[in-house]
Amino acid sequence: MSKKDEIVKDRIPRHIAIIMDGNGRWAKKQGLARMFGHKQGVTTVHNITEAAAELGIGYLTLYAFSTENWNRPKEEVDALMTLLVDTIAKETPTLMKNNVRLLTIGDLERLPQTTREKFVGCIRQTAQNTGLNLVLALSYSSRWELIEAAKRIAAQVNAGTLDIDAINEATISDHLTTHGIPDPDLLIRTSGELRISNFLLWQIAYTELYFTDRLWPEFTVDDLYEAIIDYQHRERRFGKTSEQVKRES
Ligand code: FPP
Repeated sequence: MSKKDEIVKDRIPRHIAIIMDGNGRWAKKQGLARMFGHKQGVTTVHNITEAAAELGIGYLTLYAFSTENWNRPKEEVDALMTLLVDTIAKETPTLMKNNVRLLTIGDLERLPQTTREKFVGCIRQTAQNTGLNLVLALSYSSRWELIEAAKRIAAQVNAGTLDIDAINEATISDHLTTHGIPDPDLLIRTSGELRISNFLLWQIAYTELYFTDRLWPEFTVDDLYEAIIDYQHRERRFGKTSEQVKRES
């Protein structure tokens, strides 16, 4: 029996988020420059996106470039931007073929104009696709997002269009860059690091976390299946007791 056959079809996570980590270490292990790791990482993105689309996953969110990544050496930032642009140009036909809709979260205004334009073009081209939603986090961090949300909510309170006592969870969710996107069911982080690194802090309140030692360039479709199988063996209680959850299911 292959790993894929072990997946329970009616309990596929609706939203998987991934912190793709370990490109640099993978390249170093091969005696190559860091960019080779990022290039190999793109191949993994391609394979995992196709597998997620085929499984019928609703949303796949990939942490492609964090707010903090702007602090990397300029040559690496520039090369990553070029890689992103080239990848989008090359992969748009694959997205169309697989009925994948591209979305982005993050501070797109900080991206170089040509990079931003390429993403906006691909978002428009794939807007009518009805399969997997591929969400790329670009120049994204949770703290940035929460600060922006706080500013916009405060402005509404200031202007008298929002009552302070009416602020609830939905008010916050609706002002995040992820508004309209369901919270992740499963968050995967590769490379053995056990942290969240400023990613979707509000949204992962009840997300199942899965950490693997695999470096992102060597993360395979079978590894994705294994993470999903692990997720399917968990009991999601959302603060309730196990007995309550069993009674309701
Ligand atoms: C983390 O590895 C990875 C990144 C910061 C960039 C990830 C980007 C890609 C895989 C390309 C994305 C392309 C698309 C189209 C989504 P690291 O450099 O932090 O690795 P290290 O921790 O081993 O140094």
